[in-house]
Amino acid sequence: MNNHLLPHVTAILAISLNGKISIDTNTPARFSSTEDLAHLEVQISLCDAIVFGANTLRAYGTSLTIKNPQLLERRKKESKPPQPLHIVCSASGNLNPDWSFFAQPLPRALLTNEIGKNNWLKLLQSQKLIAEKKTFFEHFFLSNNKVKWQETLIKLRALKYHKIAILGGAKLISSLLKENLIDDIWLTVCPVIIGQEDAPNLIDNSLFHEGENLFKLKKILELRQIGNEIFVHYLIKNRD
Ligand SMILES: NC(=O)c1ccc[n+]([C@@H]2O[C@H](COP(=O)([O-])OP(=O)(O)OC[C@H]3O[C@@H](n4cnc5c(N)ncnc54)[C@H](OP(=O)(O)O)[C@@H]3O)[C@@H](O)[C@H]2O)c1
Repeated sequence: MNNHLLPHVTAILAISLNGKISIDTNTPARFSSTEDLAHLEVQISLCDAIVFGANTLRAYGTSLTIKNPQLLERRKKESKPPQPLHIVCSASGNLNPDWSFFAQPLPRALLTNEIGKNNWLKLLQSQKLIAEKKTFFEHFFLSNNKVKWQETLIKLRALKYHKIAILGGAKLISSLLKENLIDDIWLTVCPVIIGQEDAPNLIDNSLFHEGENLFKLKKILELRQIGNEIFVHYLIKNRD
């Protein structure tokens, strides 16, 4: 794989001490601190695009926008738009136009397939929303039924999205990890233990085959403690 054709991909997540990312799939993860939210905002501000899975959007109904004036100023100086492109990954296109996400002041894209795109457009049509000439997304990136990640990332890099953050959830992270497409990961280890039976793990184990069960990370790039949380930045793969 020619790494130079790929954007830089960083995963960013908060995890419980026992490796869970939420209480259940339908629930937003609200167990990290305001420092973690500020950290997430900084990391997002360094990106040209961020990607999240449809279940994550279903759980939150909204996305994190950059509000910190210093971060906005820095983006302006670097001739970047105020907000990175927010890319929702959904094979089904089964999303809700009433979510606050669609009213947030940010550029949006849908990464889907022909069926998913048609489902979304049909839904808008049925709610007479298409008549307002709104598709709610500025861009549609189309792939096969299952996203071909390498192809998609190469396309994004060619469109000048050089730095991309993957914000979860487990299914999305797993599909990229499997293909060795994540460069590094920021984890915020939070002082909670989640005992719920169906609580999602950092990765979705069902998406891995036998023999794919051990991923050794290269090294720690940064490590700090703020309050009772540990912020750790791991290198997953070397570029060359
Ligand atoms: N702690 C944290 O930092 C953090 C961050 C983000 C999310 N979360 C939590 O994570 C949970 C959601 O995670 P999750 O694993 O259930 O779901 P997810 O990865 O957010 O979303 C899964 C959905 O995204 C689409 N998708 C993902 N990968 C795909 C692929 N390779 N090809 C095509 N479509 C793909 C599909 O959408 P369709 O179903 O529409 O086809 C799939 O059902 C929530 O509880 C949320 O709170 C936690």
